[in-house]
Amino acid sequence: MTTITIDKITEHVGQEVTVRGWLYLKTGKGKIQFLRLRDGTGIVQCVAFRPDLEDEVFEEIKRLGQESSLSITGTVKADARAPGIPGGYEIGIQKVEIYQNAIDYPIGPKEHGVEFLMDQRHLWLRSSLQWAIMRIRTTVKRSIIDFLDDNGFLNIDTPIITPSAAEGTSSLFELNYFDESAYLAQTGQLYNEANIMAFGKVYCFGPTFRAEKSKTRRHLTEFWMVEPEMAFFDLDDMMDLEEAFVTFIVQTTLRERRVELEMLERDTSTLEKVQSPFPRISYDEAIDRLHALRDSTEDPEERELLEISWGEDFGSPHETALAGQFEKPVFVYGYPTAVKAFYMEPWPGRPEVCKSVDLLAPEGYGEIIGGSERMSDPDVLIEAIERHELPMGNYKWYIDLRRFGTVPHSGFGLGLERAVRWICGLPHIRETSPYPRTINRMWP
Ligand code: 4AD
Ligand code: MG
Repeated sequence: MTTITIDKITEHVGQEVTVRGWLYLKTGKGKIQFLRLRDGTGIVQCVAFRPDLEDEVFEEIKRLGQESSLSITGTVKADARAPGIPGGYEIGIQKVEIYQNAIDYPIGPKEHGVEFLMDQRHLWLRSSLQWAIMRIRTTVKRSIIDFLDDNGFLNIDTPIITPSAAEGTSSLFELNYFDESAYLAQTGQLYNEANIMAFGKVYCFGPTFRAEKSKTRRHLTEFWMVEPEMAFFDLDDMMDLEEAFVTFIVQTTLRERRVELEMLERDTSTLEKVQSPFPRISYDEAIDRLHALRDSTEDPEERELLEISWGEDFGSPHETALAGQFEKPVFVYGYPTAVKAFYMEPWPGRPEVCKSVDLLAPEGYGEIIGGSERMSDPDVLIEAIERHELPMGNYKWYIDLRRFGTVPHSGFGLGLERAVRWICGLPHIRETSPYPRTINRMWP
């Protein structure tokens, strides 16, 4: 008799095995009980048939509550009707060992509100849809790392405790660092820029913090960001890289997580279309498109949502409307300098525009990547730091990078949870994180 994990059940048809896990669901009546057992790798239907078991054992099984922990021994049988992951297999129960009979598990098969479920996040993670999302997240993360490692990038870690802002001062989490002010990192980018001058192409991938003071479907206060940075890359080189990167992530996930995407009822036909190249439009063209959309809309509320003038940043409705015009993710490049971070290279001959590019996901999921070519001239950078009223002393080392062998360079950041939300097709970002942090939640 061997102890197996449920994902390996296909290899054990006709054999006696032991599986250990938690009772997901129990049905049946009279002489037969169906126990759906999950063990983290899958779910298998186990059948207790009264004539095959001692009365006392059968009665004990009947008393088991949802999420009881147990070990079941029995013979594996292929049966196309049996539900499970992978479905089509059943274990005829011969022996049961109970670790604990769980009573009154708070999450039942009935519908619960999201706030209640989030309060029970430590238990909710056991539910099959949450299980599917976390497995997809892991694959997205792995494919990000695989792509970069296979394309000449070196993974260099950047600090989480930082002395200065990089993405605006309004979303900083401040901490007391031995009586000095310090902040949780909003980005590793500035350090990546130092690292490329030592290693060529680098990336950091870790937790990132933003004190986002609004409730939205796409903001967390703690999220994971991967940030590749490349020496000698201009904006076009970077867009080539980004589309290959995103294509790889989506296609790998489609291949490796079919079952999970199906469980989430994700329409994968839209994901199949995510193949290089992606459309590229300028901010100027995006504004023209938004104006045309507004003018062709009858609904006054819709018209008001789409209202925008040149120079303003896009809100969520603008991104949704723009991306809705394309089947694939779309690049929008050349945003107004005034709405972007201080470090972006000015557009040649048009200082009011910067060499930035965002990637907007289709189907209304909005920005998943933000990036830019960086300023390479020390004087232009100093002027920008002054304009943004940032404390010059904190950026001395960053300016140094423009003094000792400066080169054109570019980089971008992809938010892991934003990408997972899009790939899973979820209405809200919170379920993409095992323990999400938002303006009104840091429990459990
Ligand atoms: O556009 P952002 O702010 O760009 C940067 O931080 C650059 N320093 C990156 C770089 O060039 N190295 O953020 C990049 C991405 C966004 O496109 C989004 O996917 C994600 O990070 N992101 C968030 N995800 C969840 N919650 C938030 N509050 C996020 N803020 C940004
Ligand atoms: Mg951005």
